[in-house]
Amino acid sequence: MMLTNDTVINFLKKNQVFSLTELEKESGLPNGLLSKVLRGDRKLNSNHLKSIKPVLKKYGFQDKMGKKAAKVICIVNHKGGVGKTTTTINLSKAFCMKGKKVLVIDMDSQGNLSQGFGLDEPERQVVNSLLNEEPLPIFKVDDNLDIAPSDLELAGADLDLVQTIGGFNRLNKSIRPVVDKYDYILIDCPPALNIFTTSAMVAANSCLITLQPEISAIKGLDKILSTIEKVQEEINEDLKIEGIVFTLVKKRLVVHQSNMDYIKESLPGFNIFETMIRENVALTEAQSAQTDIFSYDKNSHGAMDYMNLAEEILSNE
Ligand SMILES: Nc1ncnc2c1ncn2[C@@H]1O[C@H](COP(=O)(O)OP(=O)(O)O)[C@@H](O)[C@H]1O
Ligand SMILES: [Mg+2]
Repeated sequence: MMLTNDTVINFLKKNQVFSLTELEKESGLPNGLLSKVLRGDRKLNSNHLKSIKPVLKKYGFQDKMGKKAAKVICIVNHKGGVGKTTTTINLSKAFCMKGKKVLVIDMDSQGNLSQGFGLDEPERQVVNSLLNEEPLPIFKVDDNLDIAPSDLELAGADLDLVQTIGGFNRLNKSIRPVVDKYDYILIDCPPALNIFTTSAMVAANSCLITLQPEISAIKGLDKILSTIEKVQEEINEDLKIEGIVFTLVKKRLVVHQSNMDYIKESLPGFNIFETMIRENVALTEAQSAQTDIFSYDKNSHGAMDYMNLAEEILSNE
């Protein structure tokens, strides 16, 4: 794609989190030029375009023909123990088995995702990238599967990040330089609607909500949906809801069935995945063995369910 006045306008409109003043400063453009361009009062000449191009590239602008940026999906729910990490691990592996190149990012200071892939106490981790704007630390865990890990150190960063101007945009900025290297980027969120979850929502194209079909879990759904709405209104208007996936489902439990029916009725027009993740002890065992369900027991219900979920998501694209 050639850089033109219009492609710059499109890119800026899609990425409203960028400060125009900052962009002007970095590219040596006159102060205030970009807002005039966005209003249609001015046009960027070839010199302007030449100087802004490397800066936009740094922020993820792509000029390679036909190369699509990764779809970034964050896995959210402010409750703990509802299958976020299990879903991130096994969905990423299922995508890989379908020939996709995947990066997973651990935004939970419990580091369960990182441990799940065998990374304990990683020496370089996401927090360095968030606080010091270092490149995202990326480790290979499998063919076509990379991880940006975290551990407890992340927990201490939350105040610093809140106090940094534009702190919620740091993850987004760290991801941009690598988006064209992957087909999917999955972000595992913490069990809280804190700055780390917001950061993931700012960086993402969509949210995948894992939900246990229990009344207590359903009660919190409003809160998640309203947080997503706020992020859409204020920062990332293109953020979509990938859908709700029921996890830890006991198929024969009548109350689970009726809770799932109730959610489907109360959220018409909302994508609720056909695939549900059944309760399956092999999923817990795989996690303790620091591996994914397909390597642990490819014939388990868990393996079957996560493969079906991956196929359902791919078929919705
Ligand atoms: N479908 C499932 N069947 C059985 N155990 C599961 C299932 N999904 C998750 N678990 C287990 O439940 C616990 C919490 O899951 P986890 O994915 O870590 O939740 P979260 O990341 O939302 O806190 C873990 O021990 C995990 O192995
Ligand atoms: Mg977790």
